[in-house]
Amino acid sequence: MKTPISEAAIKAMLTREKALFIQRNPKSKGHSDNAARNWLRGVPMHWMVDWGTPFPLFIEKAEGVDLTDADGNSYIDFCLGDTGAMFGHSPKPVVDTLLREGAHGFTTMLPSASAVKVGKLLEDRFKLPAWQITATASDANRAVLRWCRAITGRKKILVFNHCYHGTVDETYVNLDHGKPEADRALIGEPNDLTQLTKVIEFNDVPALEAALAPGDVACVLAEPIMTNVGMVLPDDGFHAALREITRRTGTLLIIDETHCMSSGPGGYTGEHGLEPDAFVLGKPIAGGIPAAVYGFSTAMTSRIRDYLKTRPPGHSGIGTTLAGSKIQLALMQTVLETYFTREAFAPLIALAKKLEKGLADVIIKHSAPWHVVRAGARVEFMCCPTRPRNGGEAAKMIHQPIDQAVHHHLLNRGIIMTPFHNMLLICPSTTGAHVNQMIEGLDHCLAELMS
Ligand SMILES: Cc1ncc(COP(=O)(O)O)c(C=O)c1O
Repeated sequence: MKTPISEAAIKAMLTREKALFIQRNPKSKGHSDNAARNWLRGVPMHWMVDWGTPFPLFIEKAEGVDLTDADGNSYIDFCLGDTGAMFGHSPKPVVDTLLREGAHGFTTMLPSASAVKVGKLLEDRFKLPAWQITATASDANRAVLRWCRAITGRKKILVFNHCYHGTVDETYVNLDHGKPEADRALIGEPNDLTQLTKVIEFNDVPALEAALAPGDVACVLAEPIMTNVGMVLPDDGFHAALREITRRTGTLLIIDETHCMSSGPGGYTGEHGLEPDAFVLGKPIAGGIPAAVYGFSTAMTSRIRDYLKTRPPGHSGIGTTLAGSKIQLALMQTVLETYFTREAFAPLIALAKKLEKGLADVIIKHSAPWHVVRAGARVEFMCCPTRPRNGGEAAKMIHQPIDQAVHHHLLNRGIIMTPFHNMLLICPSTTGAHVNQMIEGLDHCLAELMS
């Protein structure tokens, strides 16, 4: 993408900041060198090196919004584990529950009485009657796709170009000049994913009509706002059209709220009155301990119950041993009661609005061709002048060198943003002073880049 920010300015900043990063982090460098022998790519998850820094920061501790690395550098964390720590790192109510309940067993392969309370809380917060637990949002999405296929008898699914729903193979299909193409970066995929996955652009109602018209799609899996390619907002009326067309064609609608739950205590669905057949929520639901949930509408639940009467006994292909555990349930109860409330979200959203305005003002001050978007407690600045309407447009606008330069600049000044794009999340420990520091950080960055 063309940018009035000169390539030379970006390169100069990145080169200098990489050198500064190396200088500031000798202990992380040492850990990185030592870990290289026993871990693929030197890290416990291979994508941890994809942050793009010369080596990963090794984190010593995380509390609230504060991170401290191995070299004793401290950071304000706006990444918050990419929402896993959306309510802060080790929030006290979660730690208290862990200490109290952890002494009485983590996992038993049987339900605990918390299941009754958590089921009621889930119904109360998200307005759906029937729920299941998984260990991750990826697992939840995979499970829901299976239920949808089972009860519709249809094999195909539909996703939006450049979506991300976790490690769910069949969602890794993008449009390449209008043609569905499986993501070549996917490791070890034996199937031709384009056979069972239809992919269209977000906000494209005619394409949706055409794709669902044959009546062969079990479900549409969608984030209500696309959040993994920068942020792409739905057009006015898009969700109404999506719901109407899916209903008319007998296609189930899954809303993946894993990131959009930043919108409010009922997620984007609750804030905007969506009516999904299935709903997925992961990451912070147990305060950052692995857990996710999925829920079904009354109609879908009754179809599943009918289907189950016909199913022979045996392995279902859904569910893992550690899912639905005693400790997950206890933590979920605490998190749902403490944080999934309008009162808890209100200050987060107020602070996010302050951040949104501050960043927008800085962008205007420097006449940068950028803009800011927000979904409740989540703010993102996009390095392009106008809002992309779909994943294809958004992917073209991502300017990796700029993102890298800005991220390095901020990291070296004690601010962590989400890698891969420019997401900033507010948690209960974030303060106005933290937000001001972030705004000033971007101000300094842009002053240098635009000069
Ligand atoms: C929208 C969405 N759904 C699902 C997932 C998968 O979450 P997990 O990696 O916890 O399985 C992600 C991860 O970022 C996501 O962004």
